[in-house]
Amino acid sequence: MFDTTPEPQPAVASLLANVTRDDIRRDPFPHVVVRNALPQELYEALAKSMPTAEYISERIGKPITSNERYNYMSEMILGDPTMAQVWKDFVTYHASPAFYEEFLDLFQEDLLANLPTAEDQVGPLRELRVGRRNRDTFETHDILLDCTAVINSAVTGKPSAYRGPHVDKPYKLYGGLFYMRLPEDDAVGGDLVLYKYRTEAHKFYTSASEYGDNRFDIDPSYVEEVTTIPYQSNTLVMYPINRLALHGVSVRSLTEHQRRFVALVGDLQHHLFDLAL
Ligand SMILES: [Fe+2]
Repeated sequence: MFDTTPEPQPAVASLLANVTRDDIRRDPFPHVVVRNALPQELYEALAKSMPTAEYISERIGKPITSNERYNYMSEMILGDPTMAQVWKDFVTYHASPAFYEEFLDLFQEDLLANLPTAEDQVGPLRELRVGRRNRDTFETHDILLDCTAVINSAVTGKPSAYRGPHVDKPYKLYGGLFYMRLPEDDAVGGDLVLYKYRTEAHKFYTSASEYGDNRFDIDPSYVEEVTTIPYQSNTLVMYPINRLALHGVSVRSLTEHQRRFVALVGDLQHHLFDLAL
């Protein structure tokens, strides 16, 4: 007989539980970096049951290539009977109205300082109807959150940057990256680099994303590096999105290891700002 007793699962805690406005760094744009964001026991439970690139690749139908991105979105995690309950609880909380409120408690002031017309466009941020991506729609909700397990596959052939300097899509209210680096991962690079513009005269270029919308990247000659946030386990980086929120991923050396993180997003129906193209 199999032992069908489920393993005890640690209670879910918020990634923002111990973060305050005093933790916000404003150079080159408002963001927080939170080391040991989750209690160790919870982090380990998530880390040991995180899906691999191969697992996600098969379920989303995207073949494995070097240093590509494989997203396992909350709705897929919740509908997957083999995913650990701790993952289901984790993504449920981090795509919930309660988490959105925590985000606003932390970042509302900074967000509005950089996007002063945001509330004229979408209404009071505190009153937005919060839904979850792929479960709810903009017919009934104003912002759709997601909490996605993400893997960058092994780097083969030649070293590469998954993505150079860019600004996240202007209809997203915030970005969050929660790093879940494997203990055996000895690859060099894959860090998050924050940039500022070198001059006002800069240009973005767009490219089609796999989701049928546009990505906004910028030629590295228009930006300069300000700081690098190392890719480390149990570390959260979070920021409201605006035209100053320039970032990219540094070149990752050849490695058999997968780069693991959780991506947090809140999608609005329309762009909140424009990027000069
Ligand atoms: Fe990004």
